[in-house]
Amino acid sequence: MTWVPQSFRGVSLGTVRETFRTFRPALRGQSLGLASSFLLTLLVTGLELLRPWPIKFIFDRVLIPQTGQPGAFGLSPQGTLVAAAGATLLISVLLGTLVQRSTIVAAQVGRKATVRIRRQVFEHLHKLAFPFHHTSRTGDLLVRLMGDVNMIRDALFASWVNIVGRGTLFLGTAVIMFLLEPWLALLALYPLPLLGLELGRSSRKLSEVARKQRRREGDAASFAAESLRQIRVVKAYAAEDRATRMFSKDSRSGERAGVQAARITAHMERMTEILTGAGLAMVLFVGASWTVSGRLTAGELLVFVSYARSLYKPLRKVSNEGTRLSKATACAGRVLEVLRMSPESFGVGRPAPEFRGALALEDVHYRYADGNEALRGITVAFEPGDLVVVSGPNGSGKSTLLSVLLRLLVPTSGRVLLDDEPIDGFELESYRNRFAYVPQDTQLFGATIRENILYGRPDAAEAEIRAAARAALFDGVAARLPGGYDAVLGEDGATLSGGEARRLMLARAALRHARVLLLDEPLSGLDPEARRLVGLAIRRIAAGRTTIVVSHGPASELDPDLILRMAEGRVRSVEAVSRATDDIPEAPQTVIRLDQRRVSS
Ligand SMILES: Nc1ncnc2c1ncn2[C@@H]1O[C@H](COP(=O)(O)OP(=O)(O)OP(=O)(O)O)[C@@H](O)[C@H]1O
Ligand SMILES: [Mg+2]
Repeated sequence: MTWVPQSFRGVSLGTVRETFRTFRPALRGQSLGLASSFLLTLLVTGLELLRPWPIKFIFDRVLIPQTGQPGAFGLSPQGTLVAAAGATLLISVLLGTLVQRSTIVAAQVGRKATVRIRRQVFEHLHKLAFPFHHTSRTGDLLVRLMGDVNMIRDALFASWVNIVGRGTLFLGTAVIMFLLEPWLALLALYPLPLLGLELGRSSRKLSEVARKQRRREGDAASFAAESLRQIRVVKAYAAEDRATRMFSKDSRSGERAGVQAARITAHMERMTEILTGAGLAMVLFVGASWTVSGRLTAGELLVFVSYARSLYKPLRKVSNEGTRLSKATACAGRVLEVLRMSPESFGVGRPAPEFRGALALEDVHYRYADGNEALRGITVAFEPGDLVVVSGPNGSGKSTLLSVLLRLLVPTSGRVLLDDEPIDGFELESYRNRFAYVPQDTQLFGATIRENILYGRPDAAEAEIRAAARAALFDGVAARLPGGYDAVLGEDGATLSGGEARRLMLARAALRHARVLLLDEPLSGLDPEARRLVGLAIRRIAAGRTTIVVSHGPASELDPDLILRMAEGRVRSVEAVSRATDDIPEAPQTVIRLDQRRVSS
């Protein structure tokens, strides 16, 4: 039987083993469901094998009874008829019930497993180190998370259940045929090697096509995700048609692969049909001659023919499952590719204490994966509570510096110390919990204002949310929006102006119980008056915290203690500034002034 290994050739055993190892937790506590899934399938197979027998008794004991032969099991012909009809009904009822039950059980086990696997993959994607996300494409990751994950269920158990069920059905049918009439069985089985060859070849082609299709879908999804996220640019450059053309090129090649798959499947169906017919024709011809000559009863011929007719159906199903399995392992392989990458080391090291906030960098270098050395030996120290402004030309390494402090990036060499201790000794989550961060570009969620602020500290009370908004001068904006704090933002804060989005991100940072504040260009995009007011807000939020603010231009509105100037990944100068004043104006006054400005403008 050469066909089995062939149709399974697309299935890489290594991947199957790795799939089981990696996703075993998804099946935890489901052994009962799994066992009943297999058991129900076997019961269904048994019932299917029983199915033709009542007809035999009707034929041989009722319709064409041999002289001197009693009805079946000592029953009269009428009794046999009733029993056979009853048995047919009983088999159907049992079969229907078992099939229903097994479908439900399989769905329950499958759904639970899929939900768990998706959670596992989602968590892993989020825990992968930051540099991974520089090079990965969101759309493709989404296809893996939402699409490929669905198929893993097949590789884990769904396909196996069907393969075991249909495989036993084929073997059972063949064995019964041999027991009934070995020569007729051989006649029915002679097309098997040929069919095996055909199915094997088709399956292999199918799994290749499937892999290609998945890749194309990943490409198309990445392109669509990027294009939709940057819709403003697409429209501004009147590139809708161009984008659509490029998208449809990706989709078309995926679609071509789909048609190709349908063609191969159709060919497989045709071959199965023809070869089954060829075997059946021989069985009918020889079997009928034997029946005429009395070697076989009509009932036996009928039973035999009905087995021969359905002999290859389970085989085709097994082969289809082989293909499904190879598709599933292709998909599992794509997910495993991501899961194989080791995540950041959460849970390792000692919990970060309440820091005082003394920061020091000692000869810190950072080189990006493409070889670009963004930090080239930074040595600098900040006192607890310092407000530091970092300035320097574009590309001088300011944002990279903040990422290194947050441990989003691990220095290629050199050390970072917090309160005189190397930061990599602290457990990562607890370490980052000591920081508040405002990224350089707008990163907000398509959720309510309240939820966006709460992201800073999910257990904060309503009063704290409002205080944070006030501190970041966002309360005026919230008051103006319909729904106030319950107003839902567009994706990535698309319904706010650039300056408003900055202030909301600042409010989110203000809510956090952070010892160190890292603000990447919080003043960019603000009008002069707003710069001054948000500058004041930052000073207020920064009070008592070590604060590093990246800012271009004069930093007077921030009134810093230190100005760190960077150039080409190096520190060019560190300048201590004597503070203009220690009095920071109160929040409510500034808010009122801001709002008055809004009314008058
Ligand atoms: N993911 C990345 N992969 C490779 N190189 C990068 C990556 N991110 C930044 N760089 C490079 O590292 C250097 C420093 O970048 P960084 O973003 O730190 O500059 P910056 O000082 O914040 O600039 P800007 O004022 O424009 O925000 C630049 O030359 C940049 O091209
Ligand atoms: Mg930057």
